[in-house]
Order: sequence, then C-alpha cells, then structure tokens
Amino acid sequence: MHNVTLIKGDGIGPAIMDVAVKIINASGVQINWEHMDAGMGAYEAHGSLLPDATLASIEKNRVAFKGPLTTPIGKGFRSINVALRQKYDLYANIRPAKTWKGAQTKYDNVDIVVVRENTEGLYVGLEHYLTPAHDIAESLAVVTRKGSERIVEYAFQYAKKNGRKKVTACHKANILKYTSGLFLEVAKEVATRYPEIEFDDKIVDASCMHLVMDPTQFDVIVTTNMFGDILSDLTAGLVGGLGLIPGANIGSDAALFEAVHGSAPDIATKNIANPTAVIMAGVMMLHHLNESEAAIKIQTAVEKVINDGINVTPDLNPTSNVGTFAMGDAIIAAMQ
Ligand SMILES: NC(=O)c1ccc[n+]([C@@H]2O[C@H](COP(=O)([O-])OP(=O)(O)OC[C@H]3O[C@@H](n4cnc5c(N)ncnc54)[C@H](O)[C@@H]3O)[C@@H](O)[C@H]2O)c1
Repeated sequence: MHNVTLIKGDGIGPAIMDVAVKIINASGVQINWEHMDAGMGAYEAHGSLLPDATLASIEKNRVAFKGPLTTPIGKGFRSINVALRQKYDLYANIRPAKTWKGAQTKYDNVDIVVVRENTEGLYVGLEHYLTPAHDIAESLAVVTRKGSERIVEYAFQYAKKNGRKKVTACHKANILKYTSGLFLEVAKEVATRYPEIEFDDKIVDASCMHLVMDPTQFDVIVTTNMFGDILSDLTAGLVGGLGLIPGANIGSDAALFEAVHGSAPDIATKNIANPTAVIMAGVMMLHHLNESEAAIKIQTAVEKVINDGINVTPDLNPTSNVGTFAMGDAIIAAMQ
C-alpha cells in the first residue's frame, strides 16, 4: 500500500483529478490517498493557500499527486506551484510530449522530453520595484553550478535509462553571458561524461523555430527554469495541446506529479476538460512507485481511447460531445 498526498486543486482540477484517481484505483494498485487542500480552494476554506497540514502530509508521504492551482497574476502571492517546488527542492521537471495517433496535429512523429530546471533561474522570486513610483521593476535570475550540474546530470541519466540518443541544452548564453553562460559551460562539462549520448546546444529562440519546423531534431531538451516553462508548452502544442502533457517534479527525497496545464478557468464548469494530462501524470507517478504494470495498463487504455478518437473530449475531436467523466469511464472500460 502506498501513501500519496492528493491535492485536487482549482478550476478543472477536482473533475480531472476525480477521473484520474478512479482510473488509478481501477488499475488494481493499492493507494491510500490523503486528501489535502492547496490553492484558492484552500484559501477560501482555511485562509491559507498552502495549509500546514498539506505540507505535513507531503513531508510524510514524499509523493504527491496534484491538480492545477490558480495563481492570481500581479499583486499578492507568488505561485504556490513554484513555492512547492522550491520547498521540497523538486529540481527536475520532466515533461514528455509524444505524438498520439488519435490527436490530429501537423506532425505525426514527435517524441521530445523537456527536462526543466525547477528551482532556480528567473523564478527564484527576487523581483521588486526600484522606485516608489513603481515605474522601474527588476527581476533577478539565479543560476548555480550545483543546480545546473544536477539538472544536466538528470537529463543524461534519464536519456541513458530510457534509451534516448541525444540531449540538447537550450540557453541564451549569447546575451545572458553569466546566467545562461554558466548553465551552458556546466552542460558541456557534464556531456563529456556521457560520450555514448549525442550532445548539442541551441539558443532558445532558434530552438523554438527549429521545434516548429522539424521537431524530429530533438530528443531530450535540458534547460533553465523559464525557458523550460515556455518550451514545454510549445512541445505540448506540437502533439495536440496542454490537455495531453503530464509533468513530474522530482527531488532527491520527494516527488510531485501534475499536469503541465493550469486550472483552465475558461472551461472549469463545462465538463469538457481533457483528463489525459493528469492521468498520464498518474502513470509517471506509478512508474516512480515501481508500479509499472499498473502504469502500462493505464497508458495502453488511454492510447486506445485517444486513438479510437470517439470517447474523447472536444479539444481532441471538435465534433465530440463526450465529457471529462465519460472519457474517464471509457478508459476504465478499455482497461478491462
Ligand atoms: N501547475 C499548475 O498548477 C499551473 C500551471 C499553469 C498555470 N496555472 C494557473 O492556472 C490558471 C490558468 O492559467 P492559464 O489560463 O494561463 O493556463 P491553462 O493551462 O489553465 O489554460 C490555457 C488554455 O488551455 C486550455 N486547457 C488547459 N487544460 C486543459 C485541459 N485539460 N483540457 C482542455 N483544455 C485545456 C484552457 O481551457 C485554456 O484555453 C492561472 O492561475 C495559472 O497561474 C497553474
């Protein structure tokens, strides 16, 4: 029996997480879900965006399965997601984007994993106004040798374990000579320890163009925090959108699994959110828990349903009127 902290989240979170949990339970794996609050829902219920009880649960279980959390833009608090990643030092954010046969896109052969540094860079929270009139603002990026080394090491180890052939470091070292420069220098050093894996580096803006023109040039991408945030949304777009892309946040002694997408307030009450991204985050979590048999069973069922293209939400098939819960039930039926 595994103990997992379950945070359903805001917006579409409760619906897609209910579907994902039902599917994981139906796979036969034994999980004791510890329901915890975070985000706007937690604020409304307990006056705290990240209640102590939620943190205590993650500290105890060391594995969390989390729905998207709403972060208001501008004034007020910083992202709870960023706070969680920093608090538990979840330094590696793994975001795989692979073509689904049933999802119609411009490409039919994308298979890219973005390995994003998750705790440093421009998201460290060193941001403020420089003048009382609030007419100049600055943000500081922090890149360390240790942080760069462990994320590039992670990317090469991931490549080795998963039979990947190439790692590309994406950066902006031509302009950001210190922060991106240090990351690139370390990436080149680490690459020499893995002669069996091809390595190259690309400037991030050129990477965007190359990704759109010919995504097959990429295999594993390793990059700093904000570039990884942007590039992984781009790779999501190459394979059918945010509804399909899971993410794992891995640290040395805790891990948190979630979708790449947010709480989607525009569709929150419409029962049309695609649950695939969180289900696939669940699949990543089951591999992490050494429950690979259940993980493969779920993945095979999700692939079948998406490839059939009938019991899928409208983002995958515009003529479909199948909702979030019905798609989940179709996946459970496909598992039998
Ligand atoms: N990890 C997280 O918890 C996380 C990540 C990103 C954004 N957010 C937060 O979510 C909120 C909304 O952010 P946003 O609107 O910029 O991004 P979003 O990812 O919520 O939505 C972007 C677009 O994608 C669509 N979309 C997202 N998930 C979908 C799904 N499963 N199925 C079908 N369509 C889907 C939405 O309808 C919307 O049109 C913000 O408060 C933001 O801070 C949270």
